[in-house]
Amino acid sequence: MIEYRNLRIALLGAGSVGSQVARLLLEQGDELASRVGAGLELIGIAVRDVDAPRDADLPKHLFTTDARTLIQSADVVIELMGGIEPAREYILLAINSGADVVTGNKALLATHGPELFDAAEQVGAQLYYEAAAGGAIPIIRPLRDSLAGDRVRRVMGIVNGTTNFILDRMDTEGDTLEAALATATALGYAEADPTADIEGYDAAQKAAILASLAFHTAVPVEAVHREGITGITAAQVEAAQRTGYVVKLLAICERLTDPATGVEGVVVRVHPALISRLHPLAAVHGAKNAVFVQAEAAGDLMFYGAGAGGLETASAVLGDLVSAARRHVAGGPGVGESTHANLPVLSIGSVTTRYQITLTVTDKPGVLAQVAGLFSEHGVSVEAVQQTVASAVPGLTAGAAQHGDDRSSIVQLTATLVIVTHEAPEAALAATVAAVSSNDAVVRVEAVLRVEGDTP
Ligand code: HSE
Repeated sequence: MIEYRNLRIALLGAGSVGSQVARLLLEQGDELASRVGAGLELIGIAVRDVDAPRDADLPKHLFTTDARTLIQSADVVIELMGGIEPAREYILLAINSGADVVTGNKALLATHGPELFDAAEQVGAQLYYEAAAGGAIPIIRPLRDSLAGDRVRRVMGIVNGTTNFILDRMDTEGDTLEAALATATALGYAEADPTADIEGYDAAQKAAILASLAFHTAVPVEAVHREGITGITAAQVEAAQRTGYVVKLLAICERLTDPATGVEGVVVRVHPALISRLHPLAAVHGAKNAVFVQAEAAGDLMFYGAGAGGLETASAVLGDLVSAARRHVAGGPGVGESTHANLPVLSIGSVTTRYQITLTVTDKPGVLAQVAGLFSEHGVSVEAVQQTVASAVPGLTAGAAQHGDDRSSIVQLTATLVIVTHEAPEAALAATVAAVSSNDAVVRVEAVLRVEGDTP
């Protein structure tokens, strides 16, 4: 048997994931070598500050600040430094120096993916990125390889652990969003600046990556419709509970035909939504992630696990390293970016969905009929209406205020209406909400949330 020479592995970055990757590579190198058919030699770790504290005790001699020289001596480069530059420049240098690349850099892939995949294809190099979406959860490889013979219709995932932790606290503990965010920060789930998580940017980057793979179509992150969780209130979470739902921040990637134009395309969106408490995604608690895939032949599949964490994410990185190293040993081309379908990326207006609309209305004869009339005028069919006990509040209706009335001393009886629609085009639902909010009988629109998944 011909013995293959040791493969030289360069690591860029030694943060929480990088230091665990280095530790495991050093500790389990022999076992990995037998899986690959060649030794894996960690030749260096490029960092900004060689003396910075690390999560793992790693040999000092491996550290360097000269990333370029390290990259040029490697067979496989593992990029775990994050950010756009210099990560992009280093990955291009690695590809052009004949190395394969493993990265967990979702921001870079979501913004510069096509450039990096093109560069890799030019020279026959490979780019592996299992850690870029869903942390430890194997989801990239299943979408790329296991389901390569199937047609994926929909990918619906909880791909941000911080927001899932916050929404889960609101659901299980009755916390406000602010209190849940403070707990997430104290426990180290949320960053000091939580914007990327709570405004849905992190989830949108992962959604762009998953959609591109699932539909063989380049989906730029700018084409992802994004809404964060900052508008979610404790009252909305409680109302969801009462109606058999739970609020989750969902990343939804779907292949559909626009009902108005007949164009088949892909829509990718990230927004809070109600899902039935019976849906498998409702059982995803704390900071866990899960991705629910619906494929034409395979049916429904669910991938669940840790979406972040140094050790957990290191597992995904090392799996990619073994794949990259095996290909180096076996030779031949690997799998490139698959964008052969190149479907149009449509806006959220093409989606057909259901809404749950919670309204405070004046409690007097004809109001229900008036509100129902607005739904019917916009071609939206109502599935269920729930009215709760009236209460007396001072002040104007939203519609009356808009029309310039000044009856601020009026005390009125109000009721809460929770209306769930059947599936309707997003545009018709948005127009219905606009009409409802300017109606005289409507005091306030308390919440408008899309409903996804099965009815309870
Ligand atoms: N901040 C992310 C999350 C983890 O909360 O899921 C890294 O993608």
